[in-house]
Amino acid sequence: MNLLFIGDVVGKSGCDFLGSQIYSIKKEYGIDFTVVNGENSAQGNGITFKSFDSLIRMGADVVTTGNHCFKRKESVGLYDRYRDVLLRPANFPAGVEGSGFTVIDKCPVKIAVVNLMGTLYMESLDNPFEKMDEILSGLDTPNIFVDFHAEATSEKKAMGFYLQGKVTAVMGTHTHVQTSDEVILPKSTAYITDVGMTGPELSVLGVESEIIVRKLKYHTPVRFEESKNPPFINGVVVSFDEKSGKATNITRIIRHK
Ligand SMILES: [Fe+2]
Ligand SMILES: [Fe+2]
Repeated sequence: MNLLFIGDVVGKSGCDFLGSQIYSIKKEYGIDFTVVNGENSAQGNGITFKSFDSLIRMGADVVTTGNHCFKRKESVGLYDRYRDVLLRPANFPAGVEGSGFTVIDKCPVKIAVVNLMGTLYMESLDNPFEKMDEILSGLDTPNIFVDFHAEATSEKKAMGFYLQGKVTAVMGTHTHVQTSDEVILPKSTAYITDVGMTGPELSVLGVESEIIVRKLKYHTPVRFEESKNPPFINGVVVSFDEKSGKATNITRIIRHK
């Protein structure tokens, strides 16, 4: 089987461009299952029902998020209501709405998706390694895909090695910059440090570059605005044996407008 994972979709331009291309990408790679990171899919960051709904309608089976999951007031209640298909990082404390993992029954194959957040240079959530152990002990499928939303390459690499042989793929998100270190680790787990971003290519993480330069140069408040430059799509396709959960190939995708 082939799973398509799309890196952080940014705003309307990212959603619209992905919507226009996803059918042909799925056809080209023979995609059976699609996961999209939607933590920046709403106009102005975060996720809203509107942006979540647009990702599901265009063909996402599961939408993952990250540190921006609760950025928007409009998202309150969404994670409980759509807990089977909309995830927030699993290592938030107990009591936070929603779920950090889901198992989708694509009869006869079950596919688990787990969303975790790193803790190096990010909020101090629960330990993602321990949380992953806890989740793994309760899963009844070998087909397990992890979106590890983290800043530090070291933490992401370590998670890849920690989970090799235990999951099908560990795919990093959050930096919005695609890395070229995709690999099948020795115990048949696909790994990439960061899948990248689906949004305006000539930008700083999707935001108008002049705004970020001003913020970093003068340290005065600015209002983030999505760049108007043309979007591109960043993703990966992971091929796997659905009986064993072992990954056989990982291919990076970059598609320009
Ligand atoms: Fe992001
Ligand atoms: Fe993020």
